Amino acid sequence: MSVPPLPIRPIDGAEFGALVRTVETAFGEAAHPDDIERERLVFEPDRSLAAFDGDRIVGGTWVFSFGLSVPGGELPAAGVTGVGVLPTHRRQGLLTRLMRRQVDDVRDRGEPLAALWASEAQIYGRFGYAPATFGAAHRIRKRGATALTRAPAAGGLVRLVDPDFALAAFPPVYDRTRSGRPGMPSRRGRWWEYQLLADPERHRSGHSDKQLITYTEADEVDGYAVYRVKPSWDDRGAPTGTVDVVELMAATPAAGAALWRHCLGIDLTTNVRAPRRPLDDPLPLWLDDPRQAQVVVADALWLRLVDVPAALSGRSYASTGRLTLDVRDAFCPWNDGRWTLETDGSEASCTRTRGSADLVLDQTDLAMLYLGGTTATGLTLAARIEERTPGAVARLDALFRVPLAPWAPEVF
Ligand SMILES: CC(C)(COP(=O)(O)OP(=O)(O)OC[C@H]1O[C@@H](n2cnc3c(N)ncnc32)[C@H](O)[C@@H]1OP(=O)(O)O)[C@@H](O)C(=O)NCCC(=O)NCCS
Repeated sequence: MSVPPLPIRPIDGAEFGALVRTVETAFGEAAHPDDIERERLVFEPDRSLAAFDGDRIVGGTWVFSFGLSVPGGELPAAGVTGVGVLPTHRRQGLLTRLMRRQVDDVRDRGEPLAALWASEAQIYGRFGYAPATFGAAHRIRKRGATALTRAPAAGGLVRLVDPDFALAAFPPVYDRTRSGRPGMPSRRGRWWEYQLLADPERHRSGHSDKQLITYTEADEVDGYAVYRVKPSWDDRGAPTGTVDVVELMAATPAAGAALWRHCLGIDLTTNVRAPRRPLDDPLPLWLDDPRQAQVVVADALWLRLVDVPAALSGRSYASTGRLTLDVRDAFCPWNDGRWTLETDGSEASCTRTRGSADLVLDQTDLAMLYLGGTTATGLTLAARIEERTPGAVARLDALFRVPLAPWAPEVF
């Protein structure tokens, strides 16, 4: 007798704590009651899915609704999160069923994109997700006075601010930064209290509380940073503390220079760490000795084009052109087939065609190209794209090029 598959459905409000506890257990962590309350600030119950074994939740996931900045604007996106299956129920196909149902729901809601941060790189490729932005983790070992001699002068003021001030002053800076850069999610509703400004003591691991600073020039806040300090001392009693920059957002070069000068100038510290910086971060260019910065590059936001024509017609392009793509998409077969992309740069259309293809590629390759995080020329070197019309790879690169590297500054 075959066992019926475990039922999967959205949770009701009363089941929220149980869902969060299941996912925390899947991550090998324990959910603190305050964290469950904090999750509630942004939780959308109708976007949750849980698998039940009897009355016990054994796996789940949920989605944050946001707009993702794309070249030329933003598109509705599903921010996939809270993915976990209890160790007792793994490798029985539960995640596969959750992903199936979730992506169908995202499509029904008309969101062309889904995005996530992957705990392990092997998990999500089979569901069509691929790394679309990359982040640079900077580690700067200060020697003597680390100087930013190449950074612009800044005539404004850096000030420590309190969370209420930050709640009003930070979002406009974020939105200004985001308007020119693909890959950045919008931060709606109570997101700021939920993520960047949340500061429970148990998350500090020996660090200070979050220090909030702004850079103001001509009465306008042009930048902000959030950092923690971890004091430490060597055997001789010399200070060896670390500054951990949680987020630094600068709408102008002067703001960036002033905020980095502040973070690098903090007494009793010898290291500054800043994970998840954009690949074109000016910081290494500003250091007197660029070798003081060790940079580790890693995948950041993973993207899936849930609706290929809506995604391709919903961004702008760097030039005019027309290309027919033969897209392979095993998990979302509605995307499978040939699509003609035609654009004058700002407006674009993407329609099904019976015409011959210029390029053959998987949807995961298109997702990697979509925000400008990689090039078709690079993917061709990896033998991932087949060029049927000579010159089509170069034409695709000319269309998809973006001036600023895509950047996802925050894990969700
Ligand atoms: C990742 C996780 C959700 C997978 O759940 P699951 O129900 O076991 O997944 P499935 O049974 O649907 O697996 C589907 C396929 O993915 C593979 N797979 C799943 N998790 C994998 C992992 N961590 N590494 C490598 N392969 C993995 C399975 O082997 C299976 O392959 P197959 O189809 O060739 O047999 C679960 O292992 C988990 O909760 N891990 C800890 C928390 C975590 O990392 N969550 C992801 C957060 S981004």
